[in-house]
Order: sequence, then structure tokens, then C-alpha cells
Amino acid sequence: MEFMNKDVVSIKDFSRPELEKIFEIAEKMEMNGYDRSLLEGKKVGLLFYEPSTRTRLSFDTAAQSLGARTIWFAGVEGTSVMKGETLKDTIETVANYADAIVMRHPFDGSARWAAEITTRRVSRGESKVPIISGGDGKNEHPTQTMLDLYSMMRTQGKIDGLEILMVGDLKYGRTVHSLSYALSMFDCRISFVAPDMLQVPEHVTSFLRSKGVSFTKSAKIEDAIGRADIVYMTRIQKERFPDENEYNKVKGLYRIDRKMLQMAKPTMKLMHPLPRVDEIAIDADDDIRSYYFKQAGNGVPVRAALLSLVMGAVA
Ligand code: CP
Repeated sequence: MEFMNKDVVSIKDFSRPELEKIFEIAEKMEMNGYDRSLLEGKKVGLLFYEPSTRTRLSFDTAAQSLGARTIWFAGVEGTSVMKGETLKDTIETVANYADAIVMRHPFDGSARWAAEITTRRVSRGESKVPIISGGDGKNEHPTQTMLDLYSMMRTQGKIDGLEILMVGDLKYGRTVHSLSYALSMFDCRISFVAPDMLQVPEHVTSFLRSKGVSFTKSAKIEDAIGRADIVYMTRIQKERFPDENEYNKVKGLYRIDRKMLQMAKPTMKLMHPLPRVDEIAIDADDDIRSYYFKQAGNGVPVRAALLSLVMGAVA
């Protein structure tokens, strides 16, 4: 298991034992506290070309909790991207300042490209700076999946055997794509609930079929909520629709409230990568099964564990 300088671009680049190693370290950090000497003297670059609250701030918190400093931009306003600087040139530059780079970018594949750029540095005798994706377009969000799986493990005591219901924007939702890929490493059943125009893409379902994962597709939450151990709600993402008229056809389609939660198991946990708009009613927040804010909190130990591994502070 080699983590040192490993890029975190797709959850498919990780094995189940590697994910379990991250969870083991995260759990220890959560229980015992963060050792500030682990990343003392290191710098983490946070390059966020798209808006973010949780991913950016939890990486920032995780890095600083381990003694690292962070350098960052949040939005391209005020950066030389506004003068036409390419992603390549920005990565080449920041790789001279930072020991690891966390990046969120609107283009699918941008994280892989950034990883290739810092890998080429090695042939020039320079250090490989690991790239950690904080989400690339509608493609993947691997570290969100790590904290999602960690949240499932912490709440249900296991991941194998769980019935996972995913609802909402399954087409453009990068968290759903990464989570689906990851669940193929466990013995889970998945129900996808979305209108036809937002159903999970064929490249994801083909992958699941190739791994023998059992899944169903439906347009109604009521078809699956009663048997779900995890309900994973997602926002219908207006910003990903090429045509606003298409968004208007599906906005507000799904909404879980206290009344609907009566149909769910007492042990079910309601998760959401957040931010939410209206797909989870405020009246559900105080239900004991609502876990989305604690789930976001789990981003700190999971991302701290990941940073300490890829930056070579723990093995
Ligand atoms: N879940 C998530 O990626 O949230 P942010 O967009 O706030 O980072």
C-alpha cells in the first residue's frame, strides 16, 4: 500500500484496503486528537476555481490541525486566471510553493490533467506534488466519497450489507458517481431514484454491472425509502444544466420531510453531501436519523488522514 505522493483523482484509483486504512487513521485522529507535528513546516495549496464551503474549509482545518500552513484562492477573481493563465501554468507555479495541492475545477478530467503536470516535474528532477481533487466538473468527488463511507461505517458499524438509496441529480452529481464506484468494493445494494432525465449515467451503471453490483432505478422515493439503511439525498444542480428550461422541469421534484421520514427504518441515516436547497425540509433537521451536518464534520478527520498519508507523515 503506497500512499506517499499518491494523487487523489478518482475513487477507482483506491482499493478497499486503502480506503480502510484511511478510515482507521481518521478514527484514531478523531478519538485521540490531531498531532500538529505531523505536517509542521509543510504547505497545502487550496485552489478552488468553483464555490465551496465544506471541501475547502475542512481541508483547511485538517491541514492546519496537523501543523501545515495553507495557501489558497477561492474563486478565480483576483488571480491570473483572469488574465488568461492556463490550468497547466497555475499548477506548475503553485507546485513550487506547496507540498500538496487540493483543487476544485469545473472541467471533467481537470484533476487528472493537474496530476499529470506534477508527475512530469519528476522527470525534471523536481518533487512530485500530489494532486487531490475536490471535485472536477460533473465527473467525480473522491474525498467526499471517503467521508461518506466513513460516515456509513461510523453510523451503521459496517458498509457491507447496507441498502443505499440515492436520490436527486444522479446524472450531473459527481458525489453520486464516486460513491457508486466505491460501493462496488463492498457488498451493498443500491437504489437510484431520479427522473429519467437525471438518472445515473450509463458509464456508471455499466461499471456497476461489470462488478456484479445489485441496483434498481425508479422515479419515486416511496419505492425504496422503507428498506434503505442510508438515504443519500442530492441537490438538483441548477448550475450544471445547459438549458434553464430543463432545470425548471425537475426543480423541487424531491423533498424529504418529517412526514416522509415516518416511512423509513428507525436505524436509517439521512445523508447529503450538501449544500441543500429544498430537497430536505428544515423540519427534518432535528430527526435523530438526520446525519448530514455530522457527515460534513467527518470531512476533517478523513481529509486529515488522507493528507498525512499522501504527504508521507504516516505510513
Ligand atoms: N459537499 C461539498 O462538496 O460541499 P461544498 O461544495 O460546500 O464543498
